[in-house]
Amino acid sequence: MPAFWNWYVIILTVLFIFGCLWLITWSTQQSPDDVAEDETLGHKWDDNIQELNHPAPRWWLYLFYLTIVFAVGYLVAYPGLGNLKGTLGWTQEGQYEKEMQAATERYKSVYDAFSGKDVVALSQDPAAIDVGKSLFANYCSTCHGADARGAKGFPNLTDDDWLYGASPDAIVATITNGRNGVMPALGAALGGEQGLDNMVAYVRSLSGHEGDPASLAAAKPLFDSICAACHGVDGKGNQMLGSANLTDDTWLHGGSPETVRETVLKGRMSEMPPHAELLGEQKILIVAGYIYSLSHAEKTAN
Ligand code: HEC
Ligand code: HEC
Repeated sequence: MPAFWNWYVIILTVLFIFGCLWLITWSTQQSPDDVAEDETLGHKWDDNIQELNHPAPRWWLYLFYLTIVFAVGYLVAYPGLGNLKGTLGWTQEGQYEKEMQAATERYKSVYDAFSGKDVVALSQDPAAIDVGKSLFANYCSTCHGADARGAKGFPNLTDDDWLYGASPDAIVATITNGRNGVMPALGAALGGEQGLDNMVAYVRSLSGHEGDPASLAAAKPLFDSICAACHGVDGKGNQMLGSANLTDDTWLHGGSPETVRETVLKGRMSEMPPHAELLGEQKILIVAGYIYSLSHAEKTAN
C-alpha cells in the first residue's frame, strides 16, 4: 500500500474506534438510577403507546466495550492497520502456503504409489486413471472440456487426430512445456478475394468436400509454394510444428467455408500453457497416462 493510503487507513480506523468509544460514553452519561421510574421522552403514538426514558441495560453496554477491546486486540495481533503486520506475523500468503504444503504432504503418498511407472503402464492402471481423471478435472477441463473432447480452438484429446503426436513422449512434452500453435495470417499472400476463396475450396477439398475444379486448380500451386512448408504437400501437417492435418476433416477451429476463410485470412494463435511448475513430473505422468488411455483404450485392451 502506498504511504498515503497506509496512513489514510490507520488514521481512519483509529478515529473510528475512538469515535465509537466516545459515542458509547456520551450516550450513557445518565445513570439508570437518575431516571424517574415513569419518565417518558414525550413521544406518543396511537393515544396509548409511549416511549419511556430507559437507558440500555449495563450488560448490553459492556458488549459494546468488549467489541472495542476485541478490535484493538485484533489490530495488534493481525495485519489490519495499513501496512502494519501485526505481532503474530500472520499473512494470507503464509496461510495459503501452509495449507498447500499440508495438502502436498497428504497427497504425496497417493502420487508416490505410481512412481516408476511409465505413461503406457499408467494408462492401463485403473487406480492411476482415476487419479489422472481428477487431476484433469482440476487443471485441464476448463479448456479441454470435462470429457476431454475439447471445443473450438481447444483440441479434442480423445480422438486419433494429434497436432503434436500421440506418443507418450509428445503428450508429456506438451503438458510439461506447453505449446504455441501459430498459423500465420496469409490472406494477403493469395492475391485477393478470389484467391482466398479458391484456397478455402482447396483446403476443404483435401478432406473430401466438393469444390469447383477451376478454383482447386488455381489454388494448388499457391498451396504448394506457401502452405506446404508447414502443412506438407499432401496437407497432412507436421507434428514438429503442430501444423494441423488438413486432410482428416477434423477441425480445431472449424471446417465451414467461413471459418476456414477466417483462419487463412487472419491466422490463428493457440496457446497450451506449460504445467511443469504447477504439476511437477509425477503428476504430469499420471495425467498423461489418463490422456493416453482416452485415445488408446481399445488398442491397449486388445
Ligand atoms: C488455457 C487453456 C488450456 C489448459 C488449461 C490446458 N490446455 Fe491443453 N491445449 C490448449 C490448447 C489451446 C491446445 C492447442 C495448442 C496448439 O494448437 O498449438 C492444447 C493442446 C494440448 C495437447 C496436444 C493435443 C494435440 O493434438 O497434440 C495436449 C495433449 C493437451 N493440451 C493436454 C492438456 C492437459 C493434460 C492439460 C491439463 C494438465 C491441459 N492440456 C491444459 C489449451 C489448454
Ligand atoms: C508457418 C507455418 C504455417 C504456414 C505457412 C501455414 N500454416 Fe496453416 N497452420 C499452421 C499451424 C501451426 C496451425 C495450427 C494452429 C493452431 O494450433 O491453432 C495451422 C492451422 C491451419 C488451419 C486450421 C485447421 C483446423 O483444424 O482448424 C487451416 C485451415 C490452415 N492452417 C490452412 C493453411 C493454409 C491454406 C495455408 C497457406 C495459405 C497455411 N495454413 C499456411 C501453420 C502454418
